[in-house]
Amino acid sequence: MDNNMRKDFFGPQGDTTWNRQRLLKTYTSFKHHEMDIRDRGGVARLIADLKPDAIIHTAAQPSHDLAASRPYDDFDVNAVGTLNLLEAARQGCPESPFVHMSTNKVYGDAPNRLNLVEKETRWDYADAEYAQGIRETFAIDNSMHSIFGASKVAGDVMVQEYGRYFQMPTCCLRGGCLTGPNHSGVELHGFLSYLIKCNLEGRTYRIFGYKGKQVRDNIHSLDVVRFMDQFIQHPRVGQVYNLGGGRSNSISIIEAFKLIEGISGKRMHYKYVDENRRGDHVCYISDLSKMREHYPEWDITKGLLTTFEEIRESWIDRTNTSR
Ligand SMILES: NC(=O)c1ccc[n+]([C@@H]2O[C@H](COP(=O)([O-])OP(=O)(O)OC[C@H]3O[C@@H](n4cnc5c(N)ncnc54)[C@H](O)[C@@H]3O)[C@@H](O)[C@H]2O)c1
Repeated sequence: MDNNMRKDFFGPQGDTTWNRQRLLKTYTSFKHHEMDIRDRGGVARLIADLKPDAIIHTAAQPSHDLAASRPYDDFDVNAVGTLNLLEAARQGCPESPFVHMSTNKVYGDAPNRLNLVEKETRWDYADAEYAQGIRETFAIDNSMHSIFGASKVAGDVMVQEYGRYFQMPTCCLRGGCLTGPNHSGVELHGFLSYLIKCNLEGRTYRIFGYKGKQVRDNIHSLDVVRFMDQFIQHPRVGQVYNLGGGRSNSISIIEAFKLIEGISGKRMHYKYVDENRRGDHVCYISDLSKMREHYPEWDITKGLLTTFEEIRESWIDRTNTSR
């Protein structure tokens, strides 16, 4: 289900029609439903009719900035739309696993209050407790989330509640930096994809604060989907997982410059802006222990080097740029 609301949110650049057409052409069993998840009755009828074996809910208003200017639309899609899907699932297919894409922004800016150490090329957690990153038990309140983060919290908590209260097989995946060769990174979203594109095209990349030492853990889309598949095969009730690349796939901006320069042989051009983005995490690494413990068959299969190479190859193909 997708009503192409991304086009309404982001203008023609956000139009997802190309992807729908690609899917229809590539997979004969793929069916598209032009459905708005805010349409409570329509969603209920469709789910009752289809009785799907599993639901993966990724429809959202995904931008911090836009949420502040369209708070009703943001909440209606992210919170109420999620409730519509959950209730439709409870009525139509309560046994079917329900996977919800949440976000690590549910932790708000609280990760910035952790003790950090400044290393030569990155910030890192100072306390041993966070050696593997942030766990699912990290507090979600007493921090600033942005309007978007708050509507995602509402959806996240409701997905957990439909699990616990109604014993439905639901989970929230609190995603961080999800990326891969099909990512269309732009300056405000999708930093790795955008950074690699800048290197390829010799464009100037702007670093916003934190000395370029801010750290993110990156997960390849294939490993995201592999985890969803594991959950659907062996569902649990009302679970939450921090879905990221973990410490081994963590990298700072200046470390990412070095890595892409080594792959491409092209120098990275950048400009330092001495002001961080509001609420931007200084260091965010997901602790993957719970995912590994619950799903021992799952692990990260795509390391940073492979992910960088795949993104670069894809940009070369998509933009017809020379190597
Ligand atoms: N991309 C990331 O790095 C990232 C990180 C953390 C969490 N997430 C979460 O993953 C999910 C997917 O994110 P994305 O980056 O693919 O966003 P996206 O904007 O590319 O995809 C969302 C899709 O939902 C559709 N949609 C929006 N409103 C709708 C409505 N009312 N009815 C039906 N469809 C509607 C849009 O048309 C779009 O195709 C979101 O929940 C987002 O918060 C993404």
